[in-house]
Amino acid sequence: MRIVTGMMAAAIATALSAGPVLGQSAPLPPSTVTSSLPLATVETEPLLVSADMRDALDLSGAWHYSIDPFRAGLAGFHGETPDAGQRRFLDIDVAKEMARDTRTLYEFDLAHAPLAILPSSWLTTTAELRHYQGLMWYQRHFAAPIKRTGRTFLRFGAANYRTYVYLNGQPVGRHEGGFTPFAFEVTKLLRDGDNQITVGVDSQATPETVPPPVTDWENYGGITRAVRLISTPDTYVDDAWVRLTRAGRIAVDLHLNGAASARRAVRLRIGELGLDVPGSTDAKGDWHGEIDAPAALTRWSPERPKLYDVAIDAGDDHWRDRIGFRTIEVRGADILLNGKPIFLRGISMHEEELGAEPTRAITPAAARALLSEIKDGLHGNYVRLAHYPHSEVMTRAADELGLLVWSEVPVYWMIAWSNPETLATARNMLAENILRDRNRAAIAIWSVANETTVTDARNAFLRTLVADARKLDDTRLISAALLVDHGKGPGAPVMTLADPLSDDVDLLAINTYNGWYTADRLADLPATTWHVPTGKPLVFSEFGADALAGFHAPQKFSEEYQADYYRATLAMAARLPTLRGMSPWILKDFRSPRRQNPDFQQGWNRKGLISETGQRKLAFGVLSTFYESKREADAAAAK
Ligand code: GCU
Repeated sequence: MRIVTGMMAAAIATALSAGPVLGQSAPLPPSTVTSSLPLATVETEPLLVSADMRDALDLSGAWHYSIDPFRAGLAGFHGETPDAGQRRFLDIDVAKEMARDTRTLYEFDLAHAPLAILPSSWLTTTAELRHYQGLMWYQRHFAAPIKRTGRTFLRFGAANYRTYVYLNGQPVGRHEGGFTPFAFEVTKLLRDGDNQITVGVDSQATPETVPPPVTDWENYGGITRAVRLISTPDTYVDDAWVRLTRAGRIAVDLHLNGAASARRAVRLRIGELGLDVPGSTDAKGDWHGEIDAPAALTRWSPERPKLYDVAIDAGDDHWRDRIGFRTIEVRGADILLNGKPIFLRGISMHEEELGAEPTRAITPAAARALLSEIKDGLHGNYVRLAHYPHSEVMTRAADELGLLVWSEVPVYWMIAWSNPETLATARNMLAENILRDRNRAAIAIWSVANETTVTDARNAFLRTLVADARKLDDTRLISAALLVDHGKGPGAPVMTLADPLSDDVDLLAINTYNGWYTADRLADLPATTWHVPTGKPLVFSEFGADALAGFHAPQKFSEEYQADYYRATLAMAARLPTLRGMSPWILKDFRSPRRQNPDFQQGWNRKGLISETGQRKLAFGVLSTFYESKREADAAAAK
């Protein structure tokens, strides 16, 4: 199948035909607050795929911060352009200006405001900010790189949730979405020597946002991933997707951005495989190339996560990434990795580092600490990165360690299914997620939703997302975590999956909590009857029970109850003929404002198999033993 080669804007325009094209500063949906400032019309918001592999000036570190709960820096109190005295982004020395002229008034002064270390969420900056939801302003100065040729971009790994960016007092652009990267060109705004960057981040969710206000996780507002200043040649590789097709060929789709992108000689090189594939872009700056995979190719797998250094030369730009080559597909009720059936031995995860005060700032060490618990502790080969796109640091760590990944967008619970702006936001978010990570071999599944009630509007919304995902990536599986109907049988529950979306996805995924949220007795669970379509593979995307680490008693919230729940649920799972994997809920206790039992929860969802500080609970051993025996049995069967 020929991948849409009108890469980027065209491909996305096709895929998102009814919504805004990624790459333009799509008009953000109306929200509780809109900036009345004339934001720069960003020509084409660049993708800068694999930007984390490019040299850059990293702006992590100390930034001044100032809260703005009434959003005075974005709009005046009648919604008009903000008063001059409220414009946090002005490129001025506030103290000096006021000392110079007694008529001058500014009701902010970021240069004299306190400092936060970014990337991080402001929830952990001070005790007063622990529950702040709203608009926060950040500002810092930096010296522009002395030698500057070509073009310069500001790239954000992510900022939660709505972001407004200014450089040297000028609007640069804005972005909606808390978990995907975005970049703006600042070539013309950057000046020699000292520069001032000001960023407004508004964490406030609304019924129209993705996710909506009601979730089951902490809303970590802030600049939670790195901000980097990236320079490229005048014409550069803005997107490149290099993968192994199901036909056994190495395919590349690339898009050049710049004045000399058309009819440009390009070259794909994978030195370790002796590959050096010349090509030329078309009039739109796109190139699609393919070549039979060399016999020497070692396919990526959890057991052998082989990554290759991949380079693309395009004039003065030398793009590079580290890429694994593998195939993932379904055949009947089986999931095939590199043509062989696989059982996904997984666990779910939120994006929180280990420790008593997580701030959702994932470093390579933090990612490896979590994923090693899955790979080595649980003998897992799979992780569900719930409920939103996790940091690229995490997905690269999964590539390196060898864990297959379920990646998802926060189309969660009560979405405004009939709101076109909400659909546009979700489509953009899905595209940004897929386009960021298509080169990650670890990612096997794109999920478009979690626990959404079946209605016509919801079905149409999700089918649009499924279609977008298929257009942007025909090499991975599409799924969604679905709800099931719980019925009473003679002695055990009767569960029925009656979701029409089952017809649209490659992989059926079910969240089930019998014995925790229901009055079912654990002893009855193994005899549960399941009615699910049998023509596709099934995974349990969630099941779990809370336990406070160290609490031992014959009741819910004890480690013993959680362990017994796992034994009973695993016994039930073993009887499902088309079950091909699971990602129990959840690796680590995580912050959730919904969980306020003062004895056991204290604002934490305690379904983790390890506590927030990494203390393993009894159930960890139950799952670890099950996966070790499953791995050995599968290995023996494969011989
Ligand atoms: C749901 C939901 C999770 C939530 C979990 C729970 O299935 O998908 O986000 O945390 O149940 O209740 O713990």
